[in-house]
Amino acid sequence: MASTFKLPLFLLIACSVTLSVNGQLKTLAEAQKRYVGLATTPADLAQADYAAVADREFDCFTPENQMKWGEVEKSKGVFNFSEGDKIVTHAQAHGQKVRGHTLVWHNHLPAWLEATKWTTSNAAELKAILQNHVTKQAAHFKGKLYALDVVNEAISDNANGSLRSDLFLDALGKEYIADSFRWAHEADPDVKLYYNEYGAEGVNHKSDAMLQMIKDLQAAKVPIHGAGFQSHFSSGSVPTTLKQNLERFAALGIDVAITELDIRVKLPSTAAELEQQAKDYVTVFRACWEVPRCVGVTMWGMNDKHVAQWEADQGQGMSLLFDANNKEKPAYKAVHDFLSSQK
Ligand code: G3I
Repeated sequence: MASTFKLPLFLLIACSVTLSVNGQLKTLAEAQKRYVGLATTPADLAQADYAAVADREFDCFTPENQMKWGEVEKSKGVFNFSEGDKIVTHAQAHGQKVRGHTLVWHNHLPAWLEATKWTTSNAAELKAILQNHVTKQAAHFKGKLYALDVVNEAISDNANGSLRSDLFLDALGKEYIADSFRWAHEADPDVKLYYNEYGAEGVNHKSDAMLQMIKDLQAAKVPIHGAGFQSHFSSGSVPTTLKQNLERFAALGIDVAITELDIRVKLPSTAAELEQQAKDYVTVFRACWEVPRCVGVTMWGMNDKHVAQWEADQGQGMSLLFDANNKEKPAYKAVHDFLSSQK
């Protein structure tokens, strides 16, 4: 009988400690039935060093731009899902879920759609275009997405919590929101349909309006399964009511998720600011972990080479868990330690 090779106990312990210290946020999250996600791109995933870290640490990918209207329907009625497909294919090969992002948003629209003055007089044509877009895209990715941001950022920043005036609302009225969820559900009955928003992470006028909007959709029997909270923060500004806010949305019987987390610091950064950033990251992960229906946290980028224009414009950046060389920052270690401490 072949002799079985036994590793000495001290080596087994050393390996397990090394493994746990050297990464795998996803493994720690999965032990708590949650995910740690990443917004990514095919170009990023084509870089071996980036992909090695992304596949080691994250188990839920969001295409940063590849499923937006301006990318998938550049000409009216002509669809090209190839870039989004690349991310889905990678995720399927590496065990990641995929969050689709996003079907209906006032930004990143194709020129042909924005070139028309949409009013109530030609609203029927716009409604047909919107239905076709939602249906074709949801059908294309049917069975391949864990969740899908159906409508993104439909609530204005006005103190009265009104809906954002954009080409959809101005021509179609607020019904475009319910219609988009219904059409997406008809095309893919199994994907979790989300409403996604920024600036609604704490208890405030915008999250009040978002809560009421979701209640109204539920009352109209509209299929909505989750609320996404983007969470683009500057260090030191994580709302103290984040957990309370997540809880009140979860109380509607839907999932909640942190969908686009980054926590920017003033540049050039100091050690103290990076320590504050680390504390802020733990605050956000703790809030999610303490709300049973918070399903996971998605990072809006992996390393500090990823700088949003509006961050740079404000002289801020270095908002993520890894530095420009994909090395763990204090924020990574703080999150890793927090997730490791969760039993
Ligand atoms: O791909 C084109 C390239 O061909 C062209 O040369 C270049 C210059 O015009 O533009 C490139 O497209 C840019 C795209 O990012 C890819 O880099 C778009 O102009 C630019 O507007 C787009 O910005 C994205 C932005 O959403 C608008 O879609 C950001 O990368 C992305 O991080 C940001 O993400 C949004 C979420 O989707 C919604 N929540 C807010 C979040 C941050 O703004």
